[in-house]
Amino acid sequence: MPGIIVIGSQWGDEGKGKVVDVFSSQSDYVVRYQGGANAGHTLVVDGKKTVLHLVPSGILHQNAVCVIGAGVVLDIEKLAEEISALQKNGLLKDAKQLLISDSATVLLSYHRELDQAREKSAGLEKIGTTGKGIGPAYEDRASRKAILFGDLFNEDTLKEKLAASLKEKKFLLEKMYKSSPVQIDKVLENALKAAEKLAPFRCRDTSLVVHKALKQNKKILFEGAQGTLLDILHGTYPYVTSSSTLAGSACIGTGVGPGAIDKVIGITKAYTTRVGSGPFPTELGDEIGERLRTVGQEFGATTGRSRRCGWLDLVALRYALRINGITSLALMKLDVLSGFKEIKICTAYELDGQIVKDYPVSPGDLERAKPIYQSLSGWNEDISNIKNVKDLPKNTHDYAQFIGSELATPIDVLSVGPGRDQTLWLKPLF
Ligand code: GDP
Ligand code: IMO
Ligand code: MG
Repeated sequence: MPGIIVIGSQWGDEGKGKVVDVFSSQSDYVVRYQGGANAGHTLVVDGKKTVLHLVPSGILHQNAVCVIGAGVVLDIEKLAEEISALQKNGLLKDAKQLLISDSATVLLSYHRELDQAREKSAGLEKIGTTGKGIGPAYEDRASRKAILFGDLFNEDTLKEKLAASLKEKKFLLEKMYKSSPVQIDKVLENALKAAEKLAPFRCRDTSLVVHKALKQNKKILFEGAQGTLLDILHGTYPYVTSSSTLAGSACIGTGVGPGAIDKVIGITKAYTTRVGSGPFPTELGDEIGERLRTVGQEFGATTGRSRRCGWLDLVALRYALRINGITSLALMKLDVLSGFKEIKICTAYELDGQIVKDYPVSPGDLERAKPIYQSLSGWNEDISNIKNVKDLPKNTHDYAQFIGSELATPIDVLSVGPGRDQTLWLKPLF
């Protein structure tokens, strides 16, 4: 089956947007299946940057149909704005390029307000969320109070569901968090306005669309948001997002069976970053971490927050390979490592006097884990203009090779810059 899942193998921001954009020239469909506007996926084409939050990263290719599946929490106001910006820049010309599932969960202003109010009152226990309302929207889905995208097109149903959903939220926001009063009329007005903008993209059953495409042997990319270690079940709980970010989620969030999947490509930054709170064994609080942040421009595409930086962690990556069933890797941002005399890679942890190679999942263990490093020689050359793998410096080769062989996983793609053309292929996609 011609389905390929593209997921983040670390804590997000690995470069999924860039890879999906590059792969989309060869794909018929690009499907987002979980997360919401907490995602920030950056595409750079001919020096021009586009940041997408909800629209799939295939949108710059007219050949690819972009699909937003049932598993996404849809901030309809933000999506309407994102679409308007794409249309204004001539990047979205035809409504047929984007299909939105009637079953996706609608996220409205009160979800955002609740998320932000909780973080504000949390003190030291902050998760460090993006403040985009992701947790509260998924809570509504799980407690069966969610408004679905299809509900927006029946005003009576919408009014009824909104009143039911807002009852509790109003109490929480006004009484518990002392926020400004929730105005149901304003929420309704904004929802109807966004619905009008989004109506041309409405698709009753995107699962059926993808299923039919698979039967016709069309090439489908499933675009993950966030990263493995932010997964609600298998990530660094409670410092995680509220959806499943693993490869398995592509099938559930789209509504297709696992037989649809041919490959799972783990997008992997050549070092590690994390935004928000939570354990991070290889974090560097020194000038090396600062250099990675400055050279790698490690500032969040959604919130602008500065990303925590550290060396590559193979213990965490082995875990990501296992729980996602990753079949190959794309190694990103290699250019950022140019100029380091020595590059370190974490190959194991020391935990309570023991050397461990399996990622510790028990709460608290990761906080105590100390990285054990292998040192590799760096390279001085600027590699960002290299077009052929064979022209890379020997030490860059050795670095990539070390990662591939330690993880016993092939590397399909090396990325040497943010641009679409700064991509080196080791193996064809399809
Ligand atoms: P995503 O959330 O996984 O799509 O990643 P983000 O877009 O949030 O963050 C990745 C950042 O790295 C973006 O600014 C990209 O433009 C940039 N980027 C992607 N690949 C490369 C690369 O190989 N080299 C450099 N220097 N930047 C890259
Ligand atoms: P992309 O798709 C990096 C992090 C937040 C926070 C935690 C929970 O661009 O890789 P949430 O708002 O989801 O409730 O926040 O998850 N987070 C991300 N970190 N990249 C992302 O998305 C993220 N989406 C959420 O910083 O720690
Ligand atoms: Mg991002």
